[in-house]
Amino acid sequence: MALASLRWGCRFLVVLIIFQGVCVMFYKQNTHSFRDVMTETLQKLRCAKLRHKFSVIKPAKSIKLKSFTRELSNLMSCPDKSNITERELNRMRLRFCCNATESFVLTKRNTAVNQSIPYETNKQRTFKINADIHKMLPKDSPWSAGALGLCAVVGSSGILKNSSCGSQIDSADFVIRFNLALINDIDVGLKTNLITINPSQIRYRNLEKKPGPLVKRVSVYGNSSLIIPAFAYPFCTSPSLRVLRVLQPIRPQQPVLFFSPHYLNALDLFWKGRGLKEKRLSTGFMLISAALEMCEHVHVYGFWPFDTDLQENPIPYHYYDQKKANRFMHRMPEEFVYLLQLHSQGALTLHLQPCDTH
Ligand SMILES: *[C@@H]1O[C@H](CO)[C@@H](O)[C@H](O)[C@H]1NC(C)=O
Ligand SMILES: *[C@@H]1O[C@H](CO)[C@@H](O)[C@H](O)[C@H]1NC(C)=O
Ligand SMILES: *[C@@H]1O[C@H](CO)[C@@H](O)[C@H](O)[C@H]1NC(C)=O
Ligand SMILES: *[C@@H]1O[C@H](CO)[C@@H](O)[C@H](O)[C@H]1NC(C)=O
Ligand SMILES: *[C@@H]1O[C@H](CO)[C@@H](O)[C@H](O)[C@H]1NC(C)=O
Repeated sequence: MALASLRWGCRFLVVLIIFQGVCVMFYKQNTHSFRDVMTETLQKLRCAKLRHKFSVIKPAKSIKLKSFTRELSNLMSCPDKSNITERELNRMRLRFCCNATESFVLTKRNTAVNQSIPYETNKQRTFKINADIHKMLPKDSPWSAGALGLCAVVGSSGILKNSSCGSQIDSADFVIRFNLALINDIDVGLKTNLITINPSQIRYRNLEKKPGPLVKRVSVYGNSSLIIPAFAYPFCTSPSLRVLRVLQPIRPQQPVLFFSPHYLNALDLFWKGRGLKEKRLSTGFMLISAALEMCEHVHVYGFWPFDTDLQENPIPYHYYDQKKANRFMHRMPEEFVYLLQLHSQGALTLHLQPCDTH
């Protein structure tokens, strides 16, 4: 009896010693990865918390820029978390309200001869699309929903200066730019599929007889479509029509398109319905919205409304000039709040840091 229990005790001891040995070995081999797992878990929790915080962020009259940029910088170091449910939800909402596929630009299909087009900012005033103008409109919408793959929407903020984002932007399927902004291979890339022209940029004398300077200016963007808010304000229409008349015969490979004020008004109502109080949507926000409907993925670069970057270094207003940023900047524009929300929800990807170049 005593012998049996001694034998049992011995066996127990041996098992215990082996177990301990295994434990020590396991511990020694795995402390490193154990620590990694802990760090990773903590990092994941921190990212989830930040994402939640920014996904419900509200517009504020003033912000503490320092703590705001520190948190935003942490959020931007979190892995990109695109959410297909959110992407499809936004696409569906936008398709039902606004239908960029059908009505983003004026086409022969969505506009009748002699139809009166109301101005975007003043619906009492209209402009009649006569047969002559109608003839120059594109037959149909150039793009269809979700068909554009990965889109890069490239704003002009000074945050792009020295960003090295050029090759990443150029690797997108479809690149949207603004206001005939300068392009360069290193920071912003060269590829351009759609670029806006502000009617105030059309200051060419005697354009019909001497189209050279305009042709030179737009051919920098290869075969990119040019889009003009021709019906935003009445003064926009005649320069926009001149650009269309002059370029269509000379550069048929580079379509001149007009934003449809119907689309823009629907979009305006859509975002107002979601709480945005901006008086008129910025062109940037209009095109990001169109991209959310028409592109599979939307990557947003160069949208940053402050005069310092995430590391608190001063930045110029635009990446292509040395103009100082305005000082009213510490009020956060509401549209930027919406971009932060969409980013945190996984509906689009906002780029605010320099790009990895390896
Ligand atoms: C994606 O978004 C949907 C809708 O907001 C949400 O229910 C879901 O949890 C999200 N998925 C992930 C992986 O975050
Ligand atoms: C949007 O327009 C397209 C092309 O005309 C049409 O096929 C589609 O049904 C429209 N979608 C919605 C939701 O109205
Ligand atoms: C458009 O209006 C012009 C002049 O008012 C008229 O001659 C023409 O027949 C109209 N065209 C159509 C398709 O209604
Ligand atoms: C631009 O269009 C012209 C004429 O259609 C074509 O020959 C050329 O290959 C196009 N260029 C690019 C970069 O697609
Ligand atoms: C960009 O880099 C140049 C050259 O290194 C430097 O002089 C300049 O200050 C930088 N600008 C910004 C906005 O980072």
